[in-house]
Amino acid sequence: MKIEGKEWRTIWLREDGCSIGVIDQRRLPHVFCSSIIYSFEEACNAIQSMAVRGAPLIGVTGAYGLMLALQKDPSNVSLENAYKILLSSRPTAVNLAWALARVRNCVAKLPLEIRAEAAKKEAQQIAEEDVLMCKAIGDYGYLILKEIFHKSSIKESGRQLNILTHCNAGWLATVDWGTALAPIYKAHRSGMKVHVWVDETRPRNQGASLTSYELGCEGVPHTVVVDNAGGHLMQHGLVDVVIVGSDRTTRQGDVCNKIGTYLKAIAAYENKIPFYVALPSSTIDWSIADGIKEIPIEIRSESEILQINGKLNDGDIASVNLCPLNTKGFNPAFDVTPAKFISGLITERGISSASESGLMELYRK
Ligand code: MRU
Repeated sequence: MKIEGKEWRTIWLREDGCSIGVIDQRRLPHVFCSSIIYSFEEACNAIQSMAVRGAPLIGVTGAYGLMLALQKDPSNVSLENAYKILLSSRPTAVNLAWALARVRNCVAKLPLEIRAEAAKKEAQQIAEEDVLMCKAIGDYGYLILKEIFHKSSIKESGRQLNILTHCNAGWLATVDWGTALAPIYKAHRSGMKVHVWVDETRPRNQGASLTSYELGCEGVPHTVVVDNAGGHLMQHGLVDVVIVGSDRTTRQGDVCNKIGTYLKAIAAYENKIPFYVALPSSTIDWSIADGIKEIPIEIRSESEILQINGKLNDGDIASVNLCPLNTKGFNPAFDVTPAKFISGLITERGISSASESGLMELYRK
């Protein structure tokens, strides 16, 4: 996607072939800057500190992290050590485990001297596939938006299609295009009148900081709302469709995504508003069925709740306290939306019901 006229991806292999460039998302929307990752430890730190975030992007970062470890030391000990440490950097998004397993499986039986090169090719391949999957999700999701736009005669009334999204499942969360936002970009580029309600997404404000930034760069009309506004907007006919991303989708179609997604799904269900989840196949965990029982939910630091980051009038970026000192916070980063609340899954292979049979139909091969 473009930022001030220049094409960017969120992550790239640098020309030297042994370091990785990433957009540092901790400083957006106030400062746009990239940083360089030279080692698997730094890759791990970038994932943990959320310099890079979003399920597909942490998968690709993990894959490059393993490559960096093998460039330094291609032994089995080094491979297993880096694999284990990277895997534990964030527990919920399955893309990380998926990408790490791909690189590990690809190199495990190779002679030591060609492992790093093979890992590089595999990581690059994972990154390229992510772009293609997100593009395809954009095309399929656009068909849904078009259908809703025409069916509910929004077009004739001359008004915009109102889409609500939660967190950031745009290109910043992937290598390019995004998942939930890709259909919106396609619709906007095709000339459809769209408007996006952006949930601020406390505590880290991925919606307020990142989704609004992305949509602004692309010129998509949008409005940030507090997380609790969604139900009210839906009751008053101000939301035509909800699209969110996913960090892990089980084979029965339960979706784990940013904390607060579940409440949006219930509100959409109650108000008969379609609720779609956009995800690449790298987000599907075929090994589990029941998302509530089986998906590990990351618990992050209470400081993310007790403090908030922002830009001061003098231009400095600062963190300020929100609560009385010594207040306790509890910060589960994700929740699970049961399949019954989901109208459909938008994948790179097409649209399916949120069910085992629906997913199997798309992914049997
Ligand atoms: O904690 P984050 O910012 O990594 O959480 C991101 C999300 O919850 C996204 O919705 C999800 O990863 C899908 S991204 C295409």
